[in-house]
This record gives sequence, structure tokens and C-alpha cells, in this order.
Amino acid sequence: MLLKKAPMKDPLNESNLYVSGSMKDVKISDADFEFLSRYLAMKYGLRITKQKKILLESRLIKRLNVLNIKSVSEYLKFVFKSSKGKEEYAYFVDQITTHKTFFFRENYQFDFLKKQIEFYFHKVQKQRTVTVWSAGCSTGEEVYSLAIVLNELRALYPYLDFRILGTDISIPSLKKAATGTFNSIELENLPENLIKKYFKPVSSIKNNLFRFSNNEIINKIQLGSLNLNSNSYHVPYEYDFIFCRNVIIYFDDATRTAVLRRLLNNLKHNGFLMLGHSESAIGTNLAIESVQPTIYKKK
Ligand SMILES: C[S@@+](CC[C@H](N)C(=O)[O-])C[C@H]1O[C@@H](n2cnc3c(N)ncnc32)[C@H](O)[C@@H]1O
Repeated sequence: MLLKKAPMKDPLNESNLYVSGSMKDVKISDADFEFLSRYLAMKYGLRITKQKKILLESRLIKRLNVLNIKSVSEYLKFVFKSSKGKEEYAYFVDQITTHKTFFFRENYQFDFLKKQIEFYFHKVQKQRTVTVWSAGCSTGEEVYSLAIVLNELRALYPYLDFRILGTDISIPSLKKAATGTFNSIELENLPENLIKKYFKPVSSIKNNLFRFSNNEIINKIQLGSLNLNSNSYHVPYEYDFIFCRNVIIYFDDATRTAVLRRLLNNLKHNGFLMLGHSESAIGTNLAIESVQPTIYKKK
């Protein structure tokens, strides 16, 4: 399927949980919490512990406000039992997941990718399409960081071509990624020369928005929804590199191992898997070797 950061209220401040005027009860009852945590574990592999209850409440209040619904329990009925729930479901998923991301996050992994590609093309002078998958791409910063790195390398290695896939379960995030539009704060990790080279202001009015504007590169990027907790992944290629960063941290242990196994099924022999800074595949008995912290090679 082709297709932000709302300021987080202090989750510990209970007064956030009620909206004056139309008092909303966003407290999640034990029964609703039980339902939510079971549902999210089963469907997406997400581990929602009791400690996350207040965080969940502070997130769902946004949808209660938009829809003018008075309680979480009413909201859940709307999402799961009403005829209009299907449309709301995408926003529900978006609210219960964390989307924090930024350009060139954990930059040493992009350097690692660069070095591998340079190493290859120094030895081999043949046309090759490098394939990269950003699994859990959120709003696209990882995808466009990869696109920039690979396109910069193309100038040096004319035999290099590339394809990038970005997938996520959050449709609003994917829609934002598909616009390729970022504000100046979201772009702050990018050097000025790269912003100038790859982005154009969205309008002449100073609205602070910039759109990724290289159509040739955009055609090499595909975005789509994919639940990593599903039994099989239908992706267009076998990948040279899979970036699945800051995603498995939200899964329970069994899901984490199962997801890594399925990702590896879609990684080429000798391909590389990149995880987030606090994630690890050590102890999973998978056919991988650790080349440096958070970077694994498929054996
Ligand atoms: C914190 S963001 C990480 C974004 C990016 N990879 C990075 O490291 O900057 C985590 C993303 O994983 C997605 N996610 C969570 N569970 C998922 C699942 N079961 N399948 C696919 N994506 C999932 C969320 O929607 C969210 O956009």
C-alpha cells in the first residue's frame, strides 16, 4: 500500500487525565486494560505492562478529545464494535505505538553500510542493486537518511543502484513518510548542504516545511504497511541490509525472537541486520554473528 510529535503530557500528572468543560474519564478500567494488553500482544506482539497504563491513558485522551467521546471504555467500543470503528482503528494503532525517530539516528550504522558498499564496489565493477529494508520506519526519517546515503554513494560508484522499502503498522506515520515532508526541527540532524540538495520548501510562504524532492530517488522507495508479528512477510526483495531499530524493544521475548527469525529469512546470506542501541539478538540461537554492537551478519 502506498500511500508528530504532539507534546507529551506529563504521564504522572493525573490532572492531565481529565479535560475541564466536558469531563472525560480516561482511566482505563482493569477489564479494559486486560483486553488491551491481550489484544496488542496477540495482534502486534507488543508488551504492555501495568506500568504503561498511565502512558496509554495519556495517549488515548487525544482521540477521546477529537471524537468527543467521554471514556476509554466507550472509545474501545467505538473502535472494536461500531461500524465506523474501522476508520478509527488506524488512529488507535498510531496512538498506542511510539514513533520517535530522527535523521541519521545511530549514525555509525549508516557509516557501516557505506563502508560495506564501498568495499564491494572497489572489488567488483558490475551493476548491482543494493536492497535495504527499514522495518518499523515510523514517519520516514530512516528511509530518507538511507536514500541520501545511497544516492551520495551513487555519485562515486556508477554501477550502484538501490531500492528501499519502509514498512510500519501505523498508517498515519506511513502517510507522513509518503509526503516526504519535514519541518526544520525534524531536519536539524541533516547538514545544510544535504537539506539544500535534497529538499525544497513546500511553499514560498514561510511555513517551515521542506519536501524531499528528487523524483528519481523517490521512485526507488516503496512504503507499505506490514505487521512484523504476522506469520510471513511479503516483501519485494531479499535484502542486503535490514534496519529494524527501536522496534523489537516493544515486543515480548517470544515475539522478538520470532520477528528476528522472519527478518533473517528475508535477508541475503552475508547480509546485515541493524538493531537499535538498546536491542540485541544475542542469545537467540539465530544464524547470525555479531560484527559490532547492534550490527549482525547473516551466516
Ligand atoms: C520508535 S519507532 C522507530 C523508528 C525508526 N526505526 C528509528 O529507529 O528511528 C518504532 C516504530 O515501530 C512500529 N511498530 C511497532 N510494532 C510494530 C509491528 N508489530 N510491526 C511493524 N511495526 C511496528 C511503530 O509503529 C513505530 O513507528
